[in-house]
Amino acid sequence: MQMQALHIIGEEHQSLAAILHAIRYMLKEVAAGKLQADLKLFQAMVHYLDAYAEKRHHPKEDLLFEYLVRRTGEGADALAALAVQHRAAPERIGALQQALEDYLADTGRFPDFARAFDTYADFYRSHMLLEEEAVLPLVRKYLTPADWTAVDAEFRAEMAANSGADGKAEDFSGLFSRLVNAAPAPIGFGSGPFTG
Ligand SMILES: [Fe+2]
Ligand SMILES: [Fe+2]
Repeated sequence: MQMQALHIIGEEHQSLAAILHAIRYMLKEVAAGKLQADLKLFQAMVHYLDAYAEKRHHPKEDLLFEYLVRRTGEGADALAALAVQHRAAPERIGALQQALEDYLADTGRFPDFARAFDTYADFYRSHMLLEEEAVLPLVRKYLTPADWTAVDAEFRAEMAANSGADGKAEDFSGLFSRLVNAAPAPIGFGSGPFTG
């Protein structure tokens, strides 16, 4: 049994956690006057959260969770809560983008952006925790070999259609590497400022 879908979700959680951690670290250093804010890097990271986490990651989870619903009623409360959270993606990322725009227009708004980011990151951490603790173990337990074959194929199709390898969409793993390269040590390789 391949369980490729589960592997992809796990890897995406790790990448998203890394980006959230990087932003939080940079905001703390900027607030302490130890780091010059790299505005382009902040913009690129918020773009990554929007275009990848919110628009690509959750929809794949919705695909995966549908298979679980067909096999068991277990986890129904968690799934209902997650569905509401997935649907609220536009407002959630919109608030963060607005706070970033305000900060870009007026650097005096830095504390508001830092606060908006903390709210976003706190939400995201508990969201991933709920998925990892309440739902993914059930997915592992209840999906049949035929389910895995089907959902793995759906994930492969989604990745192929959006990977950017064919030039049609953004290359998010490439973007992730560039973000990590530009972020300051010890969370990144410190090759910034970010140039795209
Ligand atoms: Fe999710
Ligand atoms: Fe997730």
